[in-house]
Amino acid sequence: MELMDGKAIAKQLKEEIATEVAEMISNGHRPPHLAVILIGNNPASETYVNAKVKACKATGFESSLLQFPPEISQSTLLQTIDELNENEELDGFIIQLPLPKHIEEKIVIERVIPSKDVDGFHPINVGKMSLGLDSFISATPGGIVELLKRYKVETEGKHCVVLGRSNIVGAPMAMLMRRNTYPGNCTVTVAHSRTQNLKEICLQGDILIAAIGKPDFVTADMVKEGAVVVDVGINRVDDASRERGYRLTGDVDFNGVSPKCSFITPVPGGVGPMTIAYLLNNTMIAARKRM
Ligand code: GUN
Repeated sequence: MELMDGKAIAKQLKEEIATEVAEMISNGHRPPHLAVILIGNNPASETYVNAKVKACKATGFESSLLQFPPEISQSTLLQTIDELNENEELDGFIIQLPLPKHIEEKIVIERVIPSKDVDGFHPINVGKMSLGLDSFISATPGGIVELLKRYKVETEGKHCVVLGRSNIVGAPMAMLMRRNTYPGNCTVTVAHSRTQNLKEICLQGDILIAAIGKPDFVTADMVKEGAVVVDVGINRVDDASRERGYRLTGDVDFNGVSPKCSFITPVPGGVGPMTIAYLLNNTMIAARKRM
């Protein structure tokens, strides 16, 4: 079993990006600039956003954090997005999800100009990605594909089972793995909460990508011998023995499953850091286009 060390690969990717940023600056350009909109005080969102801002600093990006109270009206948020769309000092921006219930996610996502949609959530980017056209690929699936590539994981002709069909991970992940390129060329099955015979389907996966947000859901009896397992879950479970009162665990029962795997990602230190590095990668792509 080989661990796919997302933390180490993300560090590599960020170093490559930082080198390019330094070159950009020495050629007289301003550094890439990412803005992050954070609404409310969801602790997990705060943690992710802080990590994104910190990664910007470490790579030489400029970053702006725009924080709003949970009561912000949808129209004020849309107005802010319009301003960011037009701000030429900014290469890309994201609105951290989930949003408060009174704000319609679909309307917010569609308001972002696709050329600055470094989250790759806008229907134009999702549509282009599904057609294999040049587009922003959302950060979590993009980061996973990069991780598979850097570990030279064989994908062609393999059966990839994606557990979960969310717009952020499951759906784009499935599209990427079925693409006619590397990593890709898989036969893809998307399993979800209504799937029957889930265990039998998971057992067919040469590559199993778990993105359902249920702690330790995937157990050893659901995994094929020699499978590649990617764990997208970042679940907080109560743990009184920890100072902060919880620990992080994935969607995969790592201790039970890992002995059966050829490759597996840990949680933490697997997909999470890759997501952040890939967001910087997308912002770098946006920044290159203005030069
Ligand atoms: N919430 C969970 N993952 C993400 C992400 O990749 N981008 C944004 N904007 N919100 C998220």
